[in-house]
Amino acid sequence: MVDIHTHLLPNIDDGSKSLDDSLSQISLMAEGGISRAYLTSHYFRGHFQYTRSEYDDKFNLLVNEVIKAGIDIDLQPGFEIYLQPGILSDIKQHNLTMGKSNYILLESDLNGLPSDFYNNIYPLLRAGYKPILAHAERYVSIMQKPSRAEDLIHRNIYIQTSAGSLLGLYGEKVKSTAWILVNKGWTHFIASDDHLRGKYYSYFEAKNKIEEVIDNHTANLLFYLYPSCIDNGDYIPYEYVEVHHSHHHQHHKHSLLKRIFG
Ligand SMILES: [Fe+2]
Repeated sequence: MVDIHTHLLPNIDDGSKSLDDSLSQISLMAEGGISRAYLTSHYFRGHFQYTRSEYDDKFNLLVNEVIKAGIDIDLQPGFEIYLQPGILSDIKQHNLTMGKSNYILLESDLNGLPSDFYNNIYPLLRAGYKPILAHAERYVSIMQKPSRAEDLIHRNIYIQTSAGSLLGLYGEKVKSTAWILVNKGWTHFIASDDHLRGKYYSYFEAKNKIEEVIDNHTANLLFYLYPSCIDNGDYIPYEYVEVHHSHHHQHHKHSLLKRIFG
């Protein structure tokens, strides 16, 4: 499994508070089958702001400790960038991408996607970045109308859903929205967004739940195959098939009609 959204890097944002905490969590993740994790610390101008070399110093320190402890996991740098006007210059200046890829993890105001959301995100697309919207199910506007996630996908924005949301850790409305995104095929990644405030197990529990109520194929896509594409530089299809529990023929018919009539 590949977790693309974590706050495991200590003392840089509101995530891990100590190296020891990080090491024990990372060890637990590796034991549970996580082969790679992105340490996506918040980058928020005026709140969590730092240079790339400040981040890299902390990152390299942690990676060395993980190697010393003999934990078998591939840690990659990353950032959860708060979307705001002019953020492109920060992204370029500090190279705020996921690993060596062009993917960038973005968050915005949870009280709704602000009206300038697209104006802020289009310059990033035109500059060649591949934006991923973090925990889409927690935005009020998406809870009100989940198909807004599909609108984002049509604008080449990838969607990340959080494991805790699927388990109800953020309330019923977030939970039902998260399941709609998964069932409709409007999400590409399930990640932990782990802040070390609770147990990491919710990530594994969410995977078990998806295997149980949907199938192994979908769990594999969302927890492993799509997340793996980031580092491999592979193309991720913007849409995957909608989950149909017993209507395979209907789906094929729909696709055929869509191909004929556009
Ligand atoms: Fe986060």
